[in-house]
Amino acid sequence: MALALVTGASSGIGEAFARHLARDGHDLVLVARAPDPLERTARTLRADTGRHVDVLSADLATAEGCAAVEERLHSGPPVDVLVNNAGTVLGRPFPTTSVVEESALLDLNIRAVMRLTHAALPRMLRAGGGAIVNVASVAGCGPSWLASSYPASKAWVIAFSESVGRSKGVRQGGVRVLAVLPGYTRTALHERNAVDTAHFPSWMWLPADRIASTALRDLRRGRVVCVPGRRYRAVVQAMRHLPRALVLPLCWDLSRTDAWDLSRTGADLPDGGYPKRPVQEEKP
Ligand SMILES: NC(=O)c1ccc[n+]([C@@H]2O[C@H](COP(=O)([O-])OP(=O)(O)OC[C@H]3O[C@@H](n4cnc5c(N)ncnc54)[C@H](OP(=O)(O)O)[C@@H]3O)[C@@H](O)[C@H]2O)c1
Repeated sequence: MALALVTGASSGIGEAFARHLARDGHDLVLVARAPDPLERTARTLRADTGRHVDVLSADLATAEGCAAVEERLHSGPPVDVLVNNAGTVLGRPFPTTSVVEESALLDLNIRAVMRLTHAALPRMLRAGGGAIVNVASVAGCGPSWLASSYPASKAWVIAFSESVGRSKGVRQGGVRVLAVLPGYTRTALHERNAVDTAHFPSWMWLPADRIASTALRDLRRGRVVCVPGRRYRAVVQAMRHLPRALVLPLCWDLSRTDAWDLSRTGADLPDGGYPKRPVQEEKP
């Protein structure tokens, strides 16, 4: 029986991946931190699909949490599909965030993806097949959110997936690696992390179900990068190929919001914040 392990499976895009994979005939291991939502999701999936669903509560921003999932990938029934989906974002501009928050974001969005891929891939290659789906973001394609480390973390996920997924050893070993680049998707992510989305028009939002179904279709087609939604495919083309000077004015700049308050960062500034000077526009 095929087995899939999905991180961040108790909500949003991860939950949608778990549902699609179960319907496609996979048993599941669901990973997230909070045990109750995880068990609720597992119960629903067992009842709806009749699949075997295990849960594993782990904080992937920590070394111990990653080690627990690595252990599950190294031993026990082999995992055929790994979905590295768990990720986070910070709603306040860099550097009004704390170094602890920034480090946790990088640990979850980057280090956990590398560690779980590193744990799963050798076993898949020895078995002669398998798939790894890494959930990145349209934001990782270029300047998109200013004053945020989130786009840089997702740029790493795209580059890493392409680098590993296009390599001869992995392709000849029968393992497919896919980077999925969702645009704005209706999930709990923004509210949970205090990201203000009030000004985003409704056409920008995609359902989580669409992200999972498009990604799994592109995985079957052997693609390495998947951008769900025709509008977002155009956005990605523009971000990748237009001159920076044309793209920058369209970027969402977190530092232009009321959250630009440096008093909470521990920055050693006498007035608790940077003096506001006129913005010097970048010369192309
Ligand atoms: N929503 C969007 O607009 C959007 C757009 C582009 C890319 N993405 C990416 O899509 C992925 C999924 O996001 P989503 O929108 O579905 O978010 P979500 O609804 O907030 O779900 C996040 C999931 O990850 C788990 N999680 C969070 N921190 C974790 C940690 N430290 N260790 C283990 N699990 C953790 C959460 O459960 P617990 O809190 O219980 O751990 C939850 O199951 C992320 O990588 C995100 O960057 C989202």
